[in-house]
Amino acid sequence: MTHINRINRINRLPALQKLLVDSALDALLLTSPEARFYATGFFSSAGMVLVTRQAGSLFTDTRYIEAARNSVTGFDVEVITFQVGYKELVGAQLAEHGVKSLGFERRTLTVGQYEDLREAWPDVRFISAQKWLDQLRYVKSQGEIDQMRAAQRIAEAAFANLLPEIRPGLTERQILVALIHHLYTAGADGLAFDPIVASGPNGALPHSRAGDRPLREGDFLTLDFGAVSQSYCSDTTRTVALGYATEEMRRVYDTVLRAQEAGIAVAHAGVTGADIHNAALAVISEAGYGAYFGHGFGHCLGLEVHEPGGASPSDRAPLPVGAVLSAEPGIYLPGRFGVRIEDVIVITETGCENLTKLGHELMIL
Ligand code: CO
Repeated sequence: MTHINRINRINRLPALQKLLVDSALDALLLTSPEARFYATGFFSSAGMVLVTRQAGSLFTDTRYIEAARNSVTGFDVEVITFQVGYKELVGAQLAEHGVKSLGFERRTLTVGQYEDLREAWPDVRFISAQKWLDQLRYVKSQGEIDQMRAAQRIAEAAFANLLPEIRPGLTERQILVALIHHLYTAGADGLAFDPIVASGPNGALPHSRAGDRPLREGDFLTLDFGAVSQSYCSDTTRTVALGYATEEMRRVYDTVLRAQEAGIAVAHAGVTGADIHNAALAVISEAGYGAYFGHGFGHCLGLEVHEPGGASPSDRAPLPVGAVLSAEPGIYLPGRFGVRIEDVIVITETGCENLTKLGHELMIL
C-alpha cells in the first residue's frame, strides 16, 4: 500500500495510554505502518512506536526523520542508526520505564521479528495487544470518515473518467492501466489494492487478475478499485455491460442489487455483521443463486482496505456506531459471468450512511 506523508497533527497518545490502563499493560509497541500512522499521524515504511504510561516515542530512520520531526506532535521522535538500532534504542526506554509487560501487534509482527525482539529484551513479557488495537481502530472518528469520503470521491471521479474509454476490443490489461491512470489523475496518493478488471467468464472469479482477454459485446465487466487518500482507503465495485445484456444477465444484476439494498437496509448499530450478510443472502437464495454467493457481504476498512470485522457469517458481534464496512454481494456463475456491486457504509445509531455516491442502475456501454 502506498501512503504519503502529510501534516495531519494526529496525536492518539492519550487514547493509547488509556488502552494501557484498560489492558493492564506497561507499554505498547507498534510495528506496522498503519498502527504507527494511527498513533502519530505520520507514515513511514520503517519504524517503531513505543507508548508507555509516561510518554510516547516514534523511532525511525534518516529517510523519514526530518519530516517526522516537523509533523509529529505529542511523541518524541528518535532516529535509529546503523550503530544504534531499534533493539538498543527501544530497549533502553523499556529499561528506563521499568516495562515488564509489552503489548505487541500479533497480526503483523512476523515470527522472525518476534523471536529477535524476545531475544533482545529477555526481561520483558510479550502480550498481544491486537484485540485492544483492533477495537480502537474499529470505530472511526469523524476525521477518519471524512478522509474515507475524500478517498471515495477520488475513486468515483476516476471511474467516471474511465467509462467513456471502455469499448469492445480493449483488453482487461488496457482497462487496468487506464483505471490506474485515472485514479492517480483524480488525486489518489496510491492504490488501496491492485484493481480487479474482470470481463466475461473471468467475472465469475471474484478476485480475477486482469489479463489479455479483449472485451466483447455482451460481456459483463467488473471493476473493483480503491484509492488511498491521506492514508485512508476507499473500495468500490461496479459491473457494467458492453453493448447489450441478456435477460439472464439483467436478472442476476437485479438480484445482486436487491441483495445489496437488503443488507444496507438492516445495517445499524447493534445488529451483527452476520445479520447483514444473511439479509442479503436471503434475497440471492430466493432468486435461486444462493450457491453462487460464496464470500462475505462486506469487510471493515480504513487505513487498511481489509480490517478485522465486517459482515460475514462469522461476524457475530454487534456493530458499533462508526464502524466502516463494504457492502459487496455478488453472484458468480462459473464459466459464464459474474456480478458484484460494492459500496462503503458507515454504521450509525439508526441506520448507516452510504459513502458511495455512484449510481447503481445497470449501465450498458
Ligand atoms: Co471490498
